[in-house]
Order: sequence, then C-alpha cells, then structure tokens
Amino acid sequence: MCGIVAYIGERAAFPILLEGLKRLEYRGYDSAGISLIDDNLNTFKKKGKVIELEKFEEVHFSKATAGIGHTRWATHGKPDDINAHPHHSGDGRLTLVHNGIIENYTALKEYLVSLGHILKSETDTEVLVHLIEEIQKRKFCDLGTAVRLAMNKIVGAYAIAVMDKNHPDVLIGARKSSPLVIGIGENEYFLASDASPIINHTKKIIYLEDNEIVVLRKEKAVQIFSLENELVDFTIEEVDLKLEEIEKGGFDHFMLKEIFQQHQSIFEAMRGRLNSSEGWVRVGGMEDHMDRIAAAERFILVACGTSWHAGLIAEYLFEELARIPVEVEYASEFRYRNPIITDKDVVIALSQSGETADTLSALQLAKEKGALIYGIVNVVGSSIARITDCGSYIHAGPEIGVASTKAFTSQLVVLTLMALDLANKRGKITNAYFQHLINEFELIPQKVEKVLLQASHIKSIASEIKSASNALYLGRGYNFPIALEGALKLKEISYIHAEGYPAAEMKHGPIALIDMYMPVIVIATNKNAYEKIFSNVQEVKARKGIVIALVSEGDVEIKKIADFTIEIPQTEDPFTPLLSVIPLQLLAYYIAVMRGCNVDQPRNLAKSVTVE
Ligand code: G6P
Repeated sequence: MCGIVAYIGERAAFPILLEGLKRLEYRGYDSAGISLIDDNLNTFKKKGKVIELEKFEEVHFSKATAGIGHTRWATHGKPDDINAHPHHSGDGRLTLVHNGIIENYTALKEYLVSLGHILKSETDTEVLVHLIEEIQKRKFCDLGTAVRLAMNKIVGAYAIAVMDKNHPDVLIGARKSSPLVIGIGENEYFLASDASPIINHTKKIIYLEDNEIVVLRKEKAVQIFSLENELVDFTIEEVDLKLEEIEKGGFDHFMLKEIFQQHQSIFEAMRGRLNSSEGWVRVGGMEDHMDRIAAAERFILVACGTSWHAGLIAEYLFEELARIPVEVEYASEFRYRNPIITDKDVVIALSQSGETADTLSALQLAKEKGALIYGIVNVVGSSIARITDCGSYIHAGPEIGVASTKAFTSQLVVLTLMALDLANKRGKITNAYFQHLINEFELIPQKVEKVLLQASHIKSIASEIKSASNALYLGRGYNFPIALEGALKLKEISYIHAEGYPAAEMKHGPIALIDMYMPVIVIATNKNAYEKIFSNVQEVKARKGIVIALVSEGDVEIKKIADFTIEIPQTEDPFTPLLSVIPLQLLAYYIAVMRGCNVDQPRNLAKSVTVE
C-alpha cells in the first residue's frame, strides 16, 4: 500500500529511485512521484504508473545525488497529479513521501489551516509535512527533531521519508506500523518499503522498528532515535535475496512465473521439515513452544484475502488430524468485536507480506490478551514476523504478482506439516496412518509439476468461457475454500463476478442463477462424498450450466456429464487443495490475459495492504 524509496549518496539519484519504484509498484500503482535534491528541490509527479516519470525530460539530466520517491495506492484523495506524493511544506523547503494513514489528519488540518497554512491536496500526507514545518518554525529545531515531535502528535500508521532542500546531505526516515528498511552502501544510504529496491546496490539492511526515526547523513554513521530522543542500538543484517528472484525470468507476467514455480516453492516449504524415509515431521517454529501449542484449547487463525482461505483449509487439517478446535477469523473483524481470547489459545497469523495492517492489529490484540502468537509469513523480517512469539517462514521467495498464488500453496504446506506434527505428537493418528500420510505428502511437488503440464488444456477451456459475466465455483470439504480461492482469483484479475460456494449450498440460492451462460467450476476430487458432488454436477447440467469439473485421474462418472474436465493426480483428501488450486489459478490467469487485463497489477488492488 504505497511504496517508498529514498537515496542519499554520490551517484545520480534518479535512476536509482526510478528502478526502486518499479520494484515497489506491486504496493500501489495509481500515481508516482520523485523529489530530486541538489542546490534546489525539484519534484516530478504524475497520475499513472511509475513509467510516467520517465516522460519528464529534466529528470534524465539531473545531477542530484539525493532524493525520495513514491508509488501510490490512494487512501485520502483521488489518484491525480496533485494528490500524488511527494508533498511539500508551505515554504517549499521540505519534501515528504508517506505510506500509511494519518487518522487524526482532519483535526491537524483544521489546526494548521487556522494558523494560515494553505494545503493544496486532499491527502493526509500534506498535513504531515506542514505539521513538521510548523514544529520547526516554533521550536527552531532540526528536521530530525521536528519529525520526532510530529510523531508524538500523529495517530495512525506511517512510514515516511523526508528531506529539506537547505540540508541536501540529510535524509530522515521514520515508521510506525508501516515497513521501512535502511540500506547501507559505500558512502550511500537507501530507505525503502522493502529490500527489493536496495538489493541491487547493497545486501546490508537495517529493519527500522516502530516509533523509530533514522537520520542518514552522507559519509556519517547511521543514527536511530526513539520517540524519547534516545539513541537506539540496531543490527545490520545481510539480506539473502537475489535479483533474479524479483525479475520475470522469461515469463509474460510475474503471476505466471509464480504459478509455474509452485512445484519448487512447495518443495522449499517442506525442505528440512519432513523426512518420510526416517518417518518424521518437524516444524522448527513450534519446537520451543511445543508444550503450549500441543496443549492449546483452541487455535485461532487470523488472516485476510487469500491467506484467509489458507486458514479455512487449516481448520479442516487441524481439526481432522490433530483434533484441535479451530476458529478462522477475518483479521479486520476479529479486531473490532472484543473477542474472547485466553492464555490457552494459540493465535496463528497467516500473511504473505507480513505487513497486512488488519492482521498485525489482530495479533497485537491477541498478544495483549495473553495468547501465544504464531506467524506463518513469507517476507523475512516483516512486521508480523517480528512481533510474533514464534513462527515459520514459508520460503516461497518474493511474490510480486498482486494476486497471491505460490504463497498460498506454501502456506498450505506449512499448515499441513504443523497438523501432521501435532497429530503425531498428540497421538491422534496411528503411526501407520502418519507414515502413510507423510509418504504421500512428499510426492506433492512432483504431482504439482504434473498439474502444470496441463496449462495449454486449461488455456483452451479459458478461451471457451472468457466472455462470461459471472461464474460459480463449487467445492466440498477441503475443497470448499478452494472454490472461494478460485472465485477470488477470477474476480481480482479478470473483473468477472465470481462466487465460491460449498457445493451442497448451491441449492439454497445460487442455483437460481444457473443458465446456459453460467460457467460452473466444480472441484470434484474428494474421495469423500463423491456421489454427492456427482449429484450437484447433474443439478447444474439439468439447468444447462457449463460445467468445468476438476476430477481425480481415473474418474469416469463426472467426466461423462461435464462439458470440460481437468484431471489432477490422485492424493489423500487433505492434500488435494495443493493440486486443485493450480488449475484455478491458471484458468483465472488465461481468462484475464484474453480479456486484456493487467494481471500483475489489477485495478484498485495492492499487494501489501498496510491500512486498516
Ligand atoms: C491483498 C493482496 C492479496 C492478499 C491479501 C492478504 O489483498 O492483494 O493477494 O491475499 O492482501 O495479504 P497478506 O500479505 O497478509 O497475505
């Protein structure tokens, strides 16, 4: 939700900022802007994608060696040139970029306007830069102090980068609840919303913590201050991220690359956690707290979007295998309904980015109430990873397509391993069944590879239904959440209205919508309740709906009556979601491409939602 990048050093700032913003575009892409600072402050900003900035001729000749940049996902004020960041102070001296929301901006704006400030945009960000200016005017203080004092007055979530044209050798960053990392190069520093704009230049990273302010001066040591103006100790970490991991690698889109990486990413999520020949499953993150986790009275899973769908599947996994009661919550709802949480609960957050504001807030609440909090996260060093008591990384590698694909399957792998580990340790399944399950689970990466081989068949099905206005996805048991996920994938990238339903619920409403124009995607891989799903397919056909059935290899009955079938390899029911979701990702992808949609950056969406 908005990306920030800033540079101060000896090289020309513009190419560094531009490249950095392109890497952060997944965070928001409705407008972009850059301030370049040398003897003067020059700001270039425009509605549209980052590439629009290249159209400003002057930027290509700029010798400025410092600057800040921003790619926006609008919260306050429509996407246009004026609301685009950076924003300036009234005297045109300060320039600031911001990711997050200033919740008390209305009151602050009234206060500043009463003092004579004239604000040009509708944004909360402009209020913040005027507030800093006002504080400097009143206190005669330096920029770092003014930022710190402003932070004491603002309520909300923010990461900011700010510069003063009269002090072009100083770059200030600050954060509360929105991510900001510092890159340490040779005589140069970077600030960014994540490490991706930095790794091309340096692998040395500091993760700024909440309520900290960093002061970066050319050729001087980094200084980090607390809100109380105390110097804070920090650790410089080496990031293990390679440039190829954040590039398309020959695929047309990041989403397609990420779908096709899944046999590897699933393997990476399993690596070191499962050994069928030795007969063990070990989820390192749980080990130090195993007594508390295995004795939990309840697991509460909190998440948003696709991660929430992974949580729904985990409910089936933990309850069926480990016999632990589970509740799955939308993080945003959980937070605001005074939930009952005790120290006997384990609250598990699922988040690809590790930055989703609602999920982060839900965890904070659970922590305050004494629950053990566990994070299942992709981005190393992210906010959720750092506030949890324990957790597991999913090791999916950077996911850049806004619609989540490989992170989802990797989340499922970790959740399945946790369920198997707990089932075994709690003695809830026999040794023979445990061994059978882990033998089968280890085969999933190669079965995923087999599903991916069907891409061209799935593409041909996509061409048959690409013009639909609506679509219905049906599934049962472990595959009901996959119906939700399939529908979400289709609507977020192709803008076709789609709904997921438990197959048996169809007759309580959605059946009224079925006619010859309605594609109905049925996930019919369950061994359990096969006859019931077969009946549901017949009900759709009786109303002339177009049935696209996902069946297990060797299926005979459903194949006879479905219009199109996609076969997936046989596996145990708890593992079928890992296979059945892949054709649905590909179907959504091909339909979106055929409809001319921007699959990697769908309209109005952002990958990392750092506002509540
Ligand atoms: C956004 C993204 C989704 C993602 C959701 C939760 O809506 O567009 O793809 O599933 O956020 O994100 P998280 O990083 O917490 O998994």
